[in-house]
Amino acid sequence: MASSTVVKIAPVKRALLQLIQTRCAQTAAATEVAPRMKKFSIYRFNPEKQGDKPKVQTYELDLNKCGPMVLDALIKIKDEMDPTLTFRRSCREGICGSCSMNIGGENTLACLRKIDPNTSKAMKIYPLPHMYVIKDLVPDMSNFYAQYRAIEPYLKKKDGSEKDIGKTQYLQSVKDRAKLDGLYECILCACCSTSCPSYWWNSG
Ligand code: FES
Repeated sequence: MASSTVVKIAPVKRALLQLIQTRCAQTAAATEVAPRMKKFSIYRFNPEKQGDKPKVQTYELDLNKCGPMVLDALIKIKDEMDPTLTFRRSCREGICGSCSMNIGGENTLACLRKIDPNTSKAMKIYPLPHMYVIKDLVPDMSNFYAQYRAIEPYLKKKDGSEKDIGKTQYLQSVKDRAKLDGLYECILCACCSTSCPSYWWNSG
């Protein structure tokens, strides 16, 4: 008696299961979004490769499968399409300054610059302007750092005893510390220096 009940219920269960599976497939198809293909035109140059000339290489990504920032796109291109693409990055949150580059004609940080969602226009990505290029999006920052060192960008004591720097600890009052706010936040990304025409002509 019990086994005949099971035999009767099984086809109902199967039909129900099929119905659920069909509904799930329909829902998935309905929620599937069309790809949003976006072009990224990126400066490429490898001075170490004999005869290599600077060129722009274009890659295409589906924005639905990419993070929102330009750095996300660069990382995706490097990971999935072209491991030779070279750029600097570290913190991914606008702190280290290493991902500075020229995006859409502006010097900025790739980790803070959102990808333009307009898929009809390619994003143009170049290294910082008027710098020697080590490779692709990596400029040679040596001159910039040498200039920064030349202005001695550190605190000095009036009595000149800062010669002990590195050996002695100098305590600071909360009031004195507050005087530094607004003066020390530069992350040395070189975006401002390399966007200044005066720097281009007098960069030595
Ligand atoms: S990765 Fe550090 S500022 Fe962009």
